[in-house]
Amino acid sequence: MNLFGIVVAAGRGERFGGPKAGLVLGGVPLWKWAADALIGGGAIAVVVVGPVPGGIPGGLRRRDSVAAGLAALPAEATHVLVHDAARPLATAGLVRAVAARLAVGDVDAVIPAIAVGDTLKRIAGERVVETVSRDGLVAVQTPQGFSVAVLRAAHTADDEEATDDAQLVERHGGSVVVVAGESGNLKITHPEDLALAEALLR
Ligand code: CTP
Ligand code: MG
Repeated sequence: MNLFGIVVAAGRGERFGGPKAGLVLGGVPLWKWAADALIGGGAIAVVVVGPVPGGIPGGLRRRDSVAAGLAALPAEATHVLVHDAARPLATAGLVRAVAARLAVGDVDAVIPAIAVGDTLKRIAGERVVETVSRDGLVAVQTPQGFSVAVLRAAHTADDEEATDDAQLVERHGGSVVVVAGESGNLKITHPEDLALAEALLR
């Protein structure tokens, strides 16, 4: 397995109130936290996508930024970890767990997931329509690990939206399995998430 990494940092940060690429946590840029975790967990090298030092240009949608990263991978890459710069607290241990499951070689994709703790309701406006069973539901994170050939084929096969990379693989019949995610692997989406991450770091 020749494992490489892609860190996507080219989003507009609409919910945050501005681009998150330049944000720092504990004095270190978010994208660098993410890239360092991939290297620490066994990636040979990392392509960073976004307006950061050494970064390559991203695209309009997240999947376009991932596609830019895929196009920039060296030819020897057989497997890839795709990670959000917005998840600076994923540990090298989580990266190793994803990589180890991928190395077994029997699946196309491996994603970290955690059980959903809150009760889930379907609503229409303010009105509660029903309580949704949590049975069999998980919340998923990055880094997500893939066979490079399968992820490239999934990108070529359609141009629809996807909220994560694994969804592209799922849509084309690829096999996707979960490993245990980390509760501390929060995503910096709103400004208060950065304050929470600073607190977790301390
Ligand atoms: N991302 C990207 N290119 C895009 C959109 C998103 O590289 N066109 C990256 C973001 O930089 C981030 C990760 O994908 O690291 C997860 O996306 P999200 O947290 O949604 O960030 P943004 O898209 O920037 O934020 P928002 O959706 O609030 O605009
Ligand atoms: Mg987004």
